[in-house]
Amino acid sequence: MSDMIKTALTVAGSDPSGGAGIQADIKTMTALGVYGMSVITSLTAQNTMGVMGINDVPQDFLEAQINAVFEDIFPNAVKVGMVSSAELAQVIADRLRYYGAKNIVVDPVMVSTSGSALSKDGCVKLMEEKLFPLATLLTPNIPEAERLWGKHISNREDMQNCAEELSQKYGCAVLLKGGHFEGGADDVLVHQKVIWLTGERIDNPNTHGTGCTLSSAIASYLARGESLEEAVKKAKDYLTGAIRAGLDLGHGRGPLDHAYRSR
Ligand SMILES: Nc1ncnc2c1ncn2[C@@H]1O[C@H](COP(=O)(O)OP(=O)(O)OP(=O)(O)O)[C@@H](O)[C@H]1O
Ligand SMILES: [Mg+2]
Repeated sequence: MSDMIKTALTVAGSDPSGGAGIQADIKTMTALGVYGMSVITSLTAQNTMGVMGINDVPQDFLEAQINAVFEDIFPNAVKVGMVSSAELAQVIADRLRYYGAKNIVVDPVMVSTSGSALSKDGCVKLMEEKLFPLATLLTPNIPEAERLWGKHISNREDMQNCAEELSQKYGCAVLLKGGHFEGGADDVLVHQKVIWLTGERIDNPNTHGTGCTLSSAIASYLARGESLEEAVKKAKDYLTGAIRAGLDLGHGRGPLDHAYRSR
């Protein structure tokens, strides 16, 4: 019997095409040697081309799922992804606080890779007030960071200023992802100090689920006891390899190869 394995939980939406959401998260956790668990916030009907439907779970059933996990297998880290309503965000914040969850990575997913809006109004405000302050790390992309900051980001200096201000505002570390900049893949981490993570831009249009994969990889490394800075660097390495592996599935923006290290 091995009790050495670390555990991680994703609280996110389901992507039946397997490239993003809880499916990407569980694949990532497994690839990184962590026992993965999932609480589903919403069923989505989506694929590499777009999101065709969103069906939120009822509030009380979201709560029942979170209770079921925490009262049995306490996760060493938690990743929160798609949350589409203020009511669901409230349940997550309440439960994570109640159980004293550790190593919380919040990926404030507001829009999918394919451009569909995933959160209703009011949800963002609630997450800002109740969920972000519980986070160890918040991982917005450029459009999400702009919405939270209320200003436009057009260069690296803006990225850094924005990440510093959001970190101050919510009292958590911030990783601002630069994947939406033409030609770039540099991300900035603000955690006591400012750390730039320079990434090689890979010429691969198949980037469905990069954000989900990165945040769950960070949660996995935190679960394994890495420092935040090390967890972010190792997660970025894993992600870059999964993009570079060059999987080509589907008719739109295809998924990553989460299992590339075992091939
Ligand atoms: N073509 C690429 N080559 C290398 N790294 C990339 C590429 N595209 C994105 N990344 C990296 O992927 C990570 C996710 O960044 P991105 O800004 O795309 O997040 P996101 O928009 O939240 O992703 P998603 O669309 O999956 O939600 C970042 O570390 C970013 O630098
Ligand atoms: Mg994202």
